[in-house]
Amino acid sequence: MRIIQAKDYKDMSRKAANILAAQIVMKPDSVLGLATGSTPIGTYDQLVEWYEKGDLDFSDIKSVNLDEYKGLDHGNDQSYYYFMHEHLFDRVNIKEENTNVPDGTKEDAQAECGRYEELIRSYGGVDLQLLGLGHNGHIGFNEPAPVFEKETHCVDLTESTIEANKRFFASAEDVPKQAYTMGIGTIMRARKILVVASGEDKADIVAKAFFGDVTPEVPASILQMHPDVIVVLDAAAASKIAEE
Ligand code: F6R
Repeated sequence: MRIIQAKDYKDMSRKAANILAAQIVMKPDSVLGLATGSTPIGTYDQLVEWYEKGDLDFSDIKSVNLDEYKGLDHGNDQSYYYFMHEHLFDRVNIKEENTNVPDGTKEDAQAECGRYEELIRSYGGVDLQLLGLGHNGHIGFNEPAPVFEKETHCVDLTESTIEANKRFFASAEDVPKQAYTMGIGTIMRARKILVVASGEDKADIVAKAFFGDVTPEVPASILQMHPDVIVVLDAAAASKIAEE
C-alpha cells in the first residue's frame, strides 16, 4: 500500500486524477471502477478539464460503478446513475453503453447483483478501482459486519451511513434504506485500487483502516492485503496516521 500525501482537497484531486489519467493513457480501453460521494468530485472535475484540453480520450473506456441506492430511478437526482452523468459521463466522450451502474430500479436483488457480477467478469475485470472511504470504514456500501461479503449484493444501510447521507435528501426518512453494492471480493479483484480521502473527519478512520487491524468491522482494512493500492490523502485526512 502506498500512501500519497497531498496538501489540500484540490491537490488530492489532481494527484488522484493523475493516476486515473495515466491509466487511461497507458491502456485506452481500461475498465475503470468508479465511486460517487463528495470526495471524488474534484478528481472528476480535473479529468474533465484535461479531456477538454484534448489530453484524455474516453472513447474506449468502460466503467462500472461501485453501488446504487435500491429504489431510485435514473431521473432521481440522488441516484448514483444521475451523479455519474452529472459529474463525469455527460462531460467526456465515454460511450453511454460502456458505462454501468447497478440498476436500483430492479426489485429482484439476486438477479440484479448476479447480472452485475457477470458483467464485470465479461469485461475481464476492473483495471483500476477508485474508492472513497466512509466514516465507519465502509467501501462501496460494504458496512462493518462480522464477515467480508464477497460478491455484489443488496445491503441494509447502517444508521451512520443514513445519517451521513441525509444531507443530500430532504430528511433522513427520505434516504433509501437499501443499496446494491459490489462486494469486498469484487473490489479486491481489481488489478489496482485508488482510494481518496479528504478532511479532518476522515482522519480517525484513515489511521484505523490503513494502519490498524484487518477486520470486517472496518471493511476498508482489507485493502492492506491487496498488492496494488494507492491512497491519496489531503493533510487533514492524514493527520492522525502517526498516532495509530
Ligand atoms: C460511493 C461509495 C461510498 C463513498 C463513501 C465516502 O460510491 O461507495 O463508499 O465513497 O461513503 O463518501 P464521501 O466521499 O461523500 O465522504
